[in-house]
Amino acid sequence: MNSYATTRERSDELAAAVTTNPSRYRVLTGERPTGPLHLGHYFGTIAERVRLHDLGVETFIILADYQVITDRDGIGPVRDNGYGAVLDYLAAGIDPNRATIFAHSAIPALNQLILPFLSLVTEAELHRNPTVKAEHAAAGRALSGLLLTYPVHQAADILFCKGNLVPVGKDNLPHIELTRVIARRFNERYGRIFPEPQALLTSTPEVPGLDGRKMSKSYGNAITLAMTADQTATLIRRAPTDSERTITFDPEHRPGVSALLTTAALCSGTDEHTLANQIGDAGSGGLKKLTTDAVNDFLTPHRQCRQDLARDPGFIRTVIRTGNARANDIADRTLDEVRSAMGTTY
Ligand code: TRP
Repeated sequence: MNSYATTRERSDELAAAVTTNPSRYRVLTGERPTGPLHLGHYFGTIAERVRLHDLGVETFIILADYQVITDRDGIGPVRDNGYGAVLDYLAAGIDPNRATIFAHSAIPALNQLILPFLSLVTEAELHRNPTVKAEHAAAGRALSGLLLTYPVHQAADILFCKGNLVPVGKDNLPHIELTRVIARRFNERYGRIFPEPQALLTSTPEVPGLDGRKMSKSYGNAITLAMTADQTATLIRRAPTDSERTITFDPEHRPGVSALLTTAALCSGTDEHTLANQIGDAGSGGLKKLTTDAVNDFLTPHRQCRQDLARDPGFIRTVIRTGNARANDIADRTLDEVRSAMGTTY
């Protein structure tokens, strides 16, 4: 916990430094294209990405497609999921002319960095990683070699473009720590090539799903960004609440009611207690109506823009192909530097 407090503090200082000097930073971040993006993604990372991008920070977004198969057998409709994610990035305000959006599997030189990086970590270090342990437990299946080495691929994702700023949630901090270790060990052994990237902790608390558990597609409790207003209303209507007429914010005793209040608060930029007072004795019905309106009002412009962009799938494809070409140029250059540093030039 202590180290979390230190990271939090460092992250706040970093946020101030980025605001003063955006051109010194290069952001690399992304997701696994496992399904549609939801409000948890929006408030957890996308809003922060857009904020940094608007400040003028150079932005790289990875569609981490290989990492889809870290914890499952089937890769699923990976391309559609990736296209959907790109629609959401653009609708949220990422400008494809200024940002590089690319697919992990399309960048061979990035993937080749994983080999020397693997030599810089021990098996014990990989087994100790709390995020890998948690993901392994959640997957409920044997630990694959790909999941065990996940933090090393992520290090390659970040370091191939010399990203020095990684906006992440708390869960991802151990991965960033290992990325720093890998950069440091590489630089010590072969000469300085890589920056030691810093984690920028997102300040939004975890967005609860409609039942009070973590918002996750697999729990069926997620409001996705692409849903229609009617689908949103139906999902919220079905959310578990209680029969107490007076609405109060009490996550421990009233998880369902409180999750709806948090959702509405995030979407309307208010706080939960103010909304609870406003709803007063109108019970679950009042709460659900207010939440549905708050979510739909908030998402209407995003959904409209997303729909307009989706009419031209060729455009999204071009965005990814252009991003792949840019990422490949950079990855090739970095791999050349690595080869020179290691003496493997022929
Ligand atoms: N590990 C991240 C996730 O599970 C996705 C990811 C892959 C990522 N490579 C990255 C995030 C590099 C930040 C930086 O969502």
